[in-house]
Amino acid sequence: MSALASFPVVEALRLILLFIHLVGFALLLGGAITQFLSGKFRINPAILWGSIIQLASGIALSAPLRGGGDDEPNPIKLGVKLLLAVMIFIMVFIPRKRDEVNKGHFIGIITLTLVNAAVAVFWR
Ligand code: HEM
Repeated sequence: MSALASFPVVEALRLILLFIHLVGFALLLGGAITQFLSGKFRINPAILWGSIIQLASGIALSAPLRGGGDDEPNPIKLGVKLLLAVMIFIMVFIPRKRDEVNKGHFIGIITLTLVNAAVAVFWR
């Protein structure tokens, strides 16, 4: 373990950010699936805030909080996650005041969210 990671305060910060990141994921995916099942394809506040929290907490988590050694996540993985999260944010932010969006647009948001979670979990 390198010097930075051995500071418990840095590890505590990383865990708090990861916790916020998982809450954001719950808001985004939970908000979108609940809304989808209601049959009205509308961008609700949980989806909007979830997409914002994912971007902010994900970028913060990308700082070298694990000591800067081999434990750090792959930068290409982080770039892919950032790209997908920006796409989700744009798809959520622009039509946020519309009464409804297309079903395909809504399924796109859910799919990109699931793909980003899969990238997080399976790309090691
Ligand atoms: C819709 C957007 C996003 C979703 C659904 C998502 C999902 C997840 C999930 C489920 C985890 C937990 C993985 C684990 O602990 O095993 C995670 C971790 C992480 N995410 Fe995200 N994420 C999103 C956006 C981002 C963005 C934009 C970034 C930064 C560019 C990012 C960077 C990270 C990092 C650094 C970790 C922890 C370390 C790792 O396992 O790679 N995430 N994400």
